[in-house]
Amino acid sequence: MDQSLIKLVNKLQDAFNNVGIQNPIDLPQITVLGSQSSGKSSVLENLVGRDFLPRGTGIVTRRPLVLQLINRPAAGGAQGGVAAASEKGADEWGEFLHLPGEKFYDFNKIREEIVRDTELKTGKNAGISPQPINLRIYSPNVLTLTLVDLPGLTKVPVGDQPRDIERQIRDMVLKFIMKPNAVILAVTAANTDLANSDGLKLAREVDPEGTRTVGVLTKVDLMDQGTDVVDILAGRIIPLRLGYVPVVNRGQRDIDQKKLVSAALAAESDFFSNHPSYRSKAQYCGTPYLARKLNTILMHHIRTTLPDIKAKIQQQLQKFNSELSSLGGALGDTNSGNIVLTIITEFCNEFRTVIDGNSNDLSVNE
Ligand code: GDP
Ligand code: NA
Ligand code: MG
Repeated sequence: MDQSLIKLVNKLQDAFNNVGIQNPIDLPQITVLGSQSSGKSSVLENLVGRDFLPRGTGIVTRRPLVLQLINRPAAGGAQGGVAAASEKGADEWGEFLHLPGEKFYDFNKIREEIVRDTELKTGKNAGISPQPINLRIYSPNVLTLTLVDLPGLTKVPVGDQPRDIERQIRDMVLKFIMKPNAVILAVTAANTDLANSDGLKLAREVDPEGTRTVGVLTKVDLMDQGTDVVDILAGRIIPLRLGYVPVVNRGQRDIDQKKLVSAALAAESDFFSNHPSYRSKAQYCGTPYLARKLNTILMHHIRTTLPDIKAKIQQQLQKFNSELSSLGGALGDTNSGNIVLTIITEFCNEFRTVIDGNSNDLSVNE
């Protein structure tokens, strides 16, 4: 995620903490929606930039995973300890709600625990459960934000799955994507027909205006020679207001060979910048562009809530001032309130600049 946005949101949150308000902005939840094995977990993992989600063919994600990213400044401050610490991974760890107090510094162990707890609640034979797994990841490199990984839409029961598996998964997914505050990443594999996309169909039901649905096209590397997604990107097939982003995630062999996220992102970038169909628009392709698009959506969201935020602050300041004067105003220090207001005003200005610099990202590609 974009560092400037992380800094801005942190600043705002700090300013609010000073006047005793927690979580002033209710940031949208990012959810994934699509058919089984379309690449949903892979997309989320690339966005977070760490390996920790179970991925693979067949039904791997069998319970919702509510992933809260929490920004926590690196220990060691500016003394150059930051890089050293994060190399050892000491600044990034995960915690599960069902294992309070236990810190996971090894992200492979996080994946193992997701698998273990999934099997504990649903058995080993493809069973599903609507009971979410709650995981928090603390890191200096993330925006405080919630992502939700969901089981894929499927039609035919396998293993221990109930006969009405299609409806059960649909209901499970609907609970998350219905929220007006949810941003939907509608994931479709590029080597399947867009018109058959269950994800797009369901997204349209809950977001008919398309104001919170982003199309994500995975497996662009697996398309037949001579075919591409250019017409989809141009909005000529099924137009989406917020457009589509083509991505290339790790294939099954990459997963088996434990290819790192960083190597996967480099390969993705190579793919788009060398491909004859995408070369000229490589800046609108791939995970980094998807991240930018999400940033822009978040910023627009924050901007629309700014007047609300300002009003809350002013209210709080008034309360402080009257409390202060009822104490006789002996301290004479009404300055602290003004400082907070100054920070907020600065924040708003800075924010507009960033938003205006990014607003192009929200238009349909091309
Ligand atoms: P999910 O079921 O939608 O969460 O999909 P996963 O992320 O688990 O991926 C399913 C399978 O598709 C895995 O074997 C992935 O390696 C593979 N996969 C996902 N995205 C891509 C992609 O962009 N390219 C290739 N070649 N394989 C992909
Ligand atoms: Na899968
Ligand atoms: Mg999955």
